[in-house]
Amino acid sequence: MAKIIGGVTSSHIPAVGNAIDKGLQQEPYWKRFFDGYKPAAAWLEEHKPDVVIVVYNDHGLNFFLDKVPTFALGCADTYYHTDEGWALNPLAPFPGDAQFSWHMAEKLVAQEFDICTCQEMKVDHGFVNPLRALFGTHEKWPFKSIPLAVNTVQHPLPTAARCLKLGRALRKAIESYPEDMKVVILGTGGMSHQLQGERAGIIDVDFDLECMERIASDPEWMTQFTNGELIARAGSEGIETIMWLVMRGALQDNVKIIHKHYHAPISNTGAGVMVLENTFI
Ligand code: DHB
Ligand code: FE
Repeated sequence: MAKIIGGVTSSHIPAVGNAIDKGLQQEPYWKRFFDGYKPAAAWLEEHKPDVVIVVYNDHGLNFFLDKVPTFALGCADTYYHTDEGWALNPLAPFPGDAQFSWHMAEKLVAQEFDICTCQEMKVDHGFVNPLRALFGTHEKWPFKSIPLAVNTVQHPLPTAARCLKLGRALRKAIESYPEDMKVVILGTGGMSHQLQGERAGIIDVDFDLECMERIASDPEWMTQFTNGELIARAGSEGIETIMWLVMRGALQDNVKIIHKHYHAPISNTGAGVMVLENTFI
């Protein structure tokens, strides 16, 4: 059976891709940020997941504002990264697992998550940059990945509570797949940031740190907030952190915290990396 071995979180800053391309990881500006990924990368290297489900938001590459699904699951055997305007070099195609995706789609719909299924999906920085920071950059990616896009761009957005419930449904969908394989859920986005308007640039370190702690130990805590409250505290793009709850919902109630690292500011963002392990392994 498919087994969820753990979950990982990461911010998904576009400039990270440029820093990797230029080999700037040990420059003073980037060093502490990238060093924070090392224990997470080591855990992934040790456990070698077969499939990584990447929960992220599309920023206008695949879905434009005329059509925005609340939740969309990639159901393809290959996903393409293309130029989205950040001067990021397009990466090698990402192998998917359409058969596994369709299984998940069927089981999610059976649990009343009527997701959009996508047989073509272009993946943006929200998907590719965390994978590069965690696994390195590959000409042939050594794992399969499946995009699960959450609308955090055009209101109305799903609530934190809904994202946690999606994660719980996703767990059942994954654990009912008969093939033996190791699955990791990666939740990207956040933490506090706002890229435009009057409160652009404000990062709330205290809130970010509390979110990290609670997402690990008490994820229901975050569901007390409306999206308006989360945006007031964390910024209009800080709402992306709700996607970490999809990852968290897919894990056991009690998880082992393997790694936790926070760095702010980097680009315009408070950046968190966590590795949460399901304790049965
Ligand atoms: C930045 C962060 C994001 O999440 C994003 O989508 C774009 C830019 C930033 O920090 O610059
Ligand atoms: Fe973003």
